[in-house]
Amino acid sequence: MENKRPEWSSYISFIIAAVGSAVGLGNIWRFPYIMGKCGGALFLIIYLLLIAFICVIPLSIELAVGKFYKGDPITIYNKINPKFKIFGYLCLITSILIPCFYFVVGGWILNYMWLFLANDIPSDFAQYFGTLNSNPFVPAALTLVFLFISLVFPFIGLNKGIEKANNVMMPVFVVMLIALAGYALTLSGAKEGLAFMFKPDFSKFNSEMILLALGQALFTLSIGIGIMMTYGSYLKKDVNIIKSSYTLIFFDTLVAVLAGIMIFPIVFTNGIEPTAGATLVFISLPEIFTTLPFSRIVAFLFFILLFFAAVTSGISLLEASLSCYSEYFKMKREKAAVLLFVLVSVIAIPASLSFGILSDFKILNRTFFDFLDFATSNVLMPICTLAICVIAGWKLPLIHFEAFGTNRYTKIFSFLLKYILPVVLVLVLVLGLK
Ligand code: PHE
Repeated sequence: MENKRPEWSSYISFIIAAVGSAVGLGNIWRFPYIMGKCGGALFLIIYLLLIAFICVIPLSIELAVGKFYKGDPITIYNKINPKFKIFGYLCLITSILIPCFYFVVGGWILNYMWLFLANDIPSDFAQYFGTLNSNPFVPAALTLVFLFISLVFPFIGLNKGIEKANNVMMPVFVVMLIALAGYALTLSGAKEGLAFMFKPDFSKFNSEMILLALGQALFTLSIGIGIMMTYGSYLKKDVNIIKSSYTLIFFDTLVAVLAGIMIFPIVFTNGIEPTAGATLVFISLPEIFTTLPFSRIVAFLFFILLFFAAVTSGISLLEASLSCYSEYFKMKREKAAVLLFVLVSVIAIPASLSFGILSDFKILNRTFFDFLDFATSNVLMPICTLAICVIAGWKLPLIHFEAFGTNRYTKIFSFLLKYILPVVLVLVLVLGLK
């Protein structure tokens, strides 16, 4: 006997939650700094082309497979063919491992929100960030608090938990982002910042850029984890998948570009290098914030913005694994939530300490935090994406229509899915292993 599965209460709620999953630290933290590293506007052009013509395909396929087969990732693969169940398990493993490093960053965000709220602002952020991370308890405790907050909503359920959280956080997020971007445009470095973003420098082109853009696009769309399958499985019959995918891509990219408009003027006003990397958000930007007008409120809003972005993505990650426990393994939701909490904690705690007391513990020459990022972003996600593209491309012709509709573009998309995406993804995988 089939259990009654939950459904999105409206199409808009689905779009908001899916955008909530897609828009995350990747947009605000990773996108601007990769773009900075790759010379700005040229990277943006390459990224837009790739996301619109290549990455839209696995996104639509994941949503369509979910909508068609209805289930958590393991159940779906099992329904397609029990031989493919292994890929469902890989999705589950990925959705457990990503929070283990992503939520460490979530913990730092909580800490910085508190700093600016309590007006307890350090004079040297580089030193502060180092001290914070060398503490043997604080980073771990913050990570667990962030995990708890993100787990509450999927635990409550689809309509009352996930939808409600996204329906409140995402609109507030967008308003704050627009306000902060507007504020950044009033600063003296605005012109330079915008030129950096929107004036392409073709001499900076190199092939690594394409790989970085592809990786970023796949990561930001939350593809290759089973999230979009899970979210797609709660869709009603009449939803147009390809249109939904483009809507999602539109908002996700808009947020990434707005984040750039918010960050680069600040960066140029203060003459720091846009290539400052991951430390940009936790060292350079806070330092700059303290020199700006309305500094405390601007900084506090910025970290709330990051917090909303990270929580709404965290919710989707945890829902993908919770759905496996409760549907495929038929566990009670309470038990499933406790199990997930324990699993993530056990791996996330050492990850949270890998900038301090565990910094010498290395796997494949990487700290544990970097190893988790590498194993998921460079290995597991491309494998899971490749699997669904090859399986759907070659074995599930009906899914092509479900994903791409029946119009004159269907054939082109199917061609890309069957022949081009496997090649692209194998390249991403091979080059990513280097
Ligand atoms: N898409 C989110 C971001 O861009 C991150 C994420 C990746 C969330 C993978 C879930 C899964 O930050």
